[in-house]
Amino acid sequence: MSKKKLTKEEKERKRIAKLTERGKSDFVEVRGSEIHGRGVYAVRSIPKEEYFIEYVGNRIDKDESERRAWAQYEEHEKTGAAAVYIFNLTKRWDLDGNVEWNPARLINHSCEPNSEAVQDGKRIFLQALRDIDVGEEITFDYGFELDCFEDHPCRCGTESCVGYIVGREYHDELAQLLAERETLKS
Ligand SMILES: C[S@@+](CC[C@H](N)C(=O)[O-])C[C@H]1O[C@@H](n2cnc3c(N)ncnc32)[C@H](O)[C@@H]1O
Ligand SMILES: [Zn+2]
Repeated sequence: MSKKKLTKEEKERKRIAKLTERGKSDFVEVRGSEIHGRGVYAVRSIPKEEYFIEYVGNRIDKDESERRAWAQYEEHEKTGAAAVYIFNLTKRWDLDGNVEWNPARLINHSCEPNSEAVQDGKRIFLQALRDIDVGEEITFDYGFELDCFEDHPCRCGTESCVGYIVGREYHDELAQLLAERETLKS
């Protein structure tokens, strides 16, 4: 029996259905966050180093990636929303996770994150940096650079919060910069 040839639309639906399945996780659920908007919370304990959710999205080439990054930057200029959805995959390809079938896109930033995004082959996963208890909000370090830090106040509420969404490697530099500003004021 010959197999019916799928239409372009059917192929696309199948592709999205597959990725939607891959993006699901028994470890977490999406709900209102105390940090910002919606967030992702553990509904089962997650052991350290577990890959607990895949960050899925559409594979795009570098030219398209640059175009989307600029569009997101312009959106940022208008609304203040930070663009954090594009991950580097290979020399040729990036992954744009800004799609509603990617629940991991809703993970908020923290200055003391409990997970990190890791690449395994051509796929991106969120991996636990420590044991995570049921009910904890999942967070990772967005790794933003220092420029425009004032546009991104951080509400992670952790003890080591530096007040702005910037990558861990910039925390000391930012603390120094803020201290210098305080000195100038007084
Ligand atoms: C990828 S979204 C995360 C999901 C977001 N909470 C939502 O409901 O759409 C990134 C945006 O969430 C907000 N956000 C994430 N982490 C934050 C934090 N620690 N403090 C304040 N806002 C944060 C910022 O507005 C950022 O632009
Ligand atoms: Zn913070």
